[in-house]
Amino acid sequence: MPVSLIVLAAGQGTRMLSDLPKVLHELGGVPMFAHAVATGRALELERSILVAGHGFEAVEAAAQALDDDIVVARQTEQLGTAHAVLQAKQALAQVAGDTVVLYADTPFIRPQTLEAMAAARAEGADVVVLGFEAQDPGRYGRLVVEGGALTRIVEFKDATEAERAITLCNSGVVMAEAALLFELVGAVGNDNAAGEYYLTDIVEIARTRGLSSVAVRCDEAETLGINTRAELAAAEARFQARARAQALADGVTLIAPETVFFAQDTVLGRDALIEPNVYFGPGVTVETGARIRAFSHLEGCHVSRDAIVGPYARLRPGAELAEGARVGNFVEIKQAEIAAGAKVNHLTYIGDACVGENANIGAGTITCNYDGVFKHRTDIGANSFIGSNTMLVAPVSIGDGAMTATGTVVTRDVPGGAMAVGRAKMDIKDGFWTRMHAKLKAKKAKQKK
Ligand code: UD1
Ligand code: MG
Repeated sequence: MPVSLIVLAAGQGTRMLSDLPKVLHELGGVPMFAHAVATGRALELERSILVAGHGFEAVEAAAQALDDDIVVARQTEQLGTAHAVLQAKQALAQVAGDTVVLYADTPFIRPQTLEAMAAARAEGADVVVLGFEAQDPGRYGRLVVEGGALTRIVEFKDATEAERAITLCNSGVVMAEAALLFELVGAVGNDNAAGEYYLTDIVEIARTRGLSSVAVRCDEAETLGINTRAELAAAEARFQARARAQALADGVTLIAPETVFFAQDTVLGRDALIEPNVYFGPGVTVETGARIRAFSHLEGCHVSRDAIVGPYARLRPGAELAEGARVGNFVEIKQAEIAAGAKVNHLTYIGDACVGENANIGAGTITCNYDGVFKHRTDIGANSFIGSNTMLVAPVSIGDGAMTATGTVVTRDVPGGAMAVGRAKMDIKDGFWTRMHAKLKAKKAKQKK
């Protein structure tokens, strides 16, 4: 059965004390809301709707950057969670099947939990709500369960003493058939302590219409929400712990797991080996057998099997390393392909370039790709040998099997098999330093007197 996703993301997040909308604060290198979207995707989504309000334009742009299939609906005023869900109605008007509602600031709901909710729907419940046993129920909404059925949800502000004693709390995650969800949400009023349209009211409305609701339970840790910077930091720690455990379980070697940082979409192949203090920004794939040595920083790049990166390497977006390529210490690669067996081992910048198979790039080589306004390409042929401290002034190409002499500033294309040399002529002056050194020492001795 197809499922659609509604992610509520319109709130301001006042307690973050931030100019950035809360849902754009990053967790695992991606905006917070992307985690809820990823959870929903485990259900083979028909459509995803993000309900945005505060910082609408910025949130919309971030959603489109993540996936342009996400529809962003606007909630101009934040009148409550039911009102927020209603803003997705138009976008889902033609869509059959179920809808699940997640919060953008609650990133740890597991796909398996949504599957358990879908199973409860398949068993006949009209509305399925995700609840959890709270250590400290605090201000959460309380789930009132009678004889196995969920009869209503009462918000803390509106609860009696007896209801406040209930420890089964509302996570906020709800699943129901799309048309029914909008019908129920449309019937919600705002006659309550907060004057808000509560999504939680749909349970009682369903019951008065002879429909059934059930609570599916999850671990409290899944429902952890982010409201403050401290909670964001705690969530990051939790995310990292989970990502490290997953990598180990997938057959990746992490020598010091606690020092390796992952992004939400990091993909590491089996038998990849990650040395201590490695940082993965978004968009990194490392294939099987590759080794990422200590203190390397990678983002938006692909490292093929058996390649070796680092120590102290930086792979920026668009870095593409083929099998067995080597990128060594203090090397930066951006928007460039390093072909199979090529070596870029020391103190080098390669940007907007391609380096052919088995080419050897000497220490201190720089592709001078930027003229202050435009970026230009450098093509380095297969089996070429680039001498140390070569400046490649782009646009420029080095043919297959060509070489550049150490210290050369390359300003014209070099044909295959040729050698380019361009540097000042060197001179040797016999005995010069012996005389000069003696003179300088004598001068210093005189000054001391
Ligand atoms: C809500 C639930 C409560 C539950 C708790 C779990 C309701 C009425 N209450 O309370 O039962 O225990 O979450 O954390 O649903 N949002 C919008 N537009 C709005 C209002 C909210 O997009 O007009 C979004 C917020 O950005 C947030 C989410 O909905 O992501 C939840 O809103 P929040 O104000 O935090 O609800 P709670 O009062 O915590
Ligand atoms: Mg909340």
